[in-house]
Amino acid sequence: MSKLIVCDHPVLQQILGGLRDKSTPPPRFRDLMESAGLIIGLEVLNGIKTQPGQVTTPLKAASVRNLGQPIALVAILRAGLGMMPGLQRLLPEARVGHIGLYRNEETLNPVRYYVRLPAAIEKSFVLLLDPMLATGGSAAEAVRILKTDGAKDIRLLTILATRTGIRRVHREHPDVQILTAAVDPVLNNIGYIVPGLGDAGDRLFTL
Ligand code: PRP
Ligand code: URA
Repeated sequence: MSKLIVCDHPVLQQILGGLRDKSTPPPRFRDLMESAGLIIGLEVLNGIKTQPGQVTTPLKAASVRNLGQPIALVAILRAGLGMMPGLQRLLPEARVGHIGLYRNEETLNPVRYYVRLPAAIEKSFVLLLDPMLATGGSAAEAVRILKTDGAKDIRLLTILATRTGIRRVHREHPDVQILTAAVDPVLNNIGYIVPGLGDAGDRLFTL
């Protein structure tokens, strides 16, 4: 399994352009992030195991393939919520959880304020959603929380990542595959990804 997948799909790249554009208003920004979640979700699910099944069409019995593992979608609040609707459209039966973290503005360390995880997470293929992987502190902490609850099979779905963030997550959790639409070159001195797209939570939820 490749530890980092940069999804180069042209439609995803066009969506990323809209997300980066500072003139994109919040309703459009939300739509774009939903679509980005869906495309990255398709990419991560490409390798999932399937199980044979059977249905009856109006004409005849037909063999089908079903996903072979329960799926859990876990959003890091707030910005991970932006990717959730796209994933839920693909996987309407997936169980959903939330991890509330915010970064202390001075230390940039994540502060935990809410955790609610789905049942049977130890048997699930867990997709952890957060569009921004900056220092990597929040994602590394969220993975730690998931593992403490028994999760074993975890993928991190982001939209923008930095090398620093990728290195940190892989140093602390070498088993976690990371997917992203792009790797940006710089993390500035207040922990923002540059050129990035700004504060994802504010752009989603501030009118
Ligand atoms: C943002 C973002 C990530 C985190 C990434 O959340 O959504 O969770 O920063 O930064 P890191 O990789 O350096 O930890 P923020 O703390 O701003 O909270 P919010 O989504 O509620 O605004
Ligand atoms: N969180 C954001 O929302 N944006 C960044 O650039 C970094 C962290």
